Amino acid sequence: MSSEARRLDDPAAIKRGDPYDARHVLADFPRQCRTAAGLRPVPAPPAARPPVVVAAGMGGSAAGGDVVAACGAERLPVPIVVHRGYGLPPVASGRAMVVASSYSGGTAEVLSAVDVAVERRLAIVAITSGGALRERAARHGIPTVLLPAGLMPRMALGYLLFPAIAALRAAGLEVAGESEVAEALDVVETLATALVPERPAADNEAKRLALAIGDRLPAVYGGPTTGAIAYRWKTDVEENAKAFALSGVLPEMNHNTIEAWRAPGAGQMHLVLLREQDEPPAIARRFTVTRELIGDAAGGVSECWARGRGRLARLLSLAYMGQWTSYYLALLRGVDPWTVPLLDELKRRVGVEGASDGVLD
Ligand code: F6R
Repeated sequence: MSSEARRLDDPAAIKRGDPYDARHVLADFPRQCRTAAGLRPVPAPPAARPPVVVAAGMGGSAAGGDVVAACGAERLPVPIVVHRGYGLPPVASGRAMVVASSYSGGTAEVLSAVDVAVERRLAIVAITSGGALRERAARHGIPTVLLPAGLMPRMALGYLLFPAIAALRAAGLEVAGESEVAEALDVVETLATALVPERPAADNEAKRLALAIGDRLPAVYGGPTTGAIAYRWKTDVEENAKAFALSGVLPEMNHNTIEAWRAPGAGQMHLVLLREQDEPPAIARRFTVTRELIGDAAGGVSECWARGRGRLARLLSLAYMGQWTSYYLALLRGVDPWTVPLLDELKRRVGVEGASDGVLD
């Protein structure tokens, strides 16, 4: 067993490397999801079905919208647009529904989106643990899902995801049925026991993935639906392990990024492919050929397979695997997986209520 693997199995080393107990938040994720699945906006939003949904959020608080959009894309006749930025795009008009998510409630971009939505008299649902978003929502009578505070937004994915699913269902848009939600909850519960630090590296897929990636730069590619989760892996590696990562989606990356794998730096990258059973044959074939063509150039290749049958369980299981993998990467690289000092400093300097002058509104 390598010394790195021993480090990931050593409770004292883990405790030293994770002074804010991020591991407990991650281990508690199944319970977070179960609690979140019972949360509803108060007051209840209007039941009218919107012609378009705009999910406004940044960073970790946009991830719930990404998963909802990926689930909805396959079955809804209504588009779910994830909006990351100030204001709102013009498509957010008329009977559009805006789901404004900010875990802290202090994110300037989301607050400006809410201001525009109020101005345009749109149907809004706010998802937050407090801050200015909670105040705005109370002032305007906006249906709000109030979340427990105290987490890092990126580790509150369950809270940001399941209430959005419920809010959309109440508006006649079912991105995941009750049984799919139940399956997703079971799947993350099973996965938690397999990925916690107590489970040794020899038998822990997230530790094995982190050890395989090692010092290399992870390039995470998903298929048409898991691509959103590949992006989530990238941001989790960036925020938890404080390391660069790339993400992309098949088939699109076959039409451009694949050429970059001839660059001399390819050997310093680790290819991670997010796969699922029953991929459309065309996508499965593309994964195979992509691996054939660039696998040897990469410093290493790993495949991570989604759990479950339903779309929600699959996406959530891959996202959860990415959370743990980036957590173990942080420990291997000797960085605190919880704090995000640069991100905090930037917010401090820009100011929470950063003016939206001159930007999209
Ligand atoms: C920090 C994190 C960030 C935040 C983002 C927006 O853990 O995940 O990506 O999510 O800075 O802040 P919130 O989520 O509070 O609106």
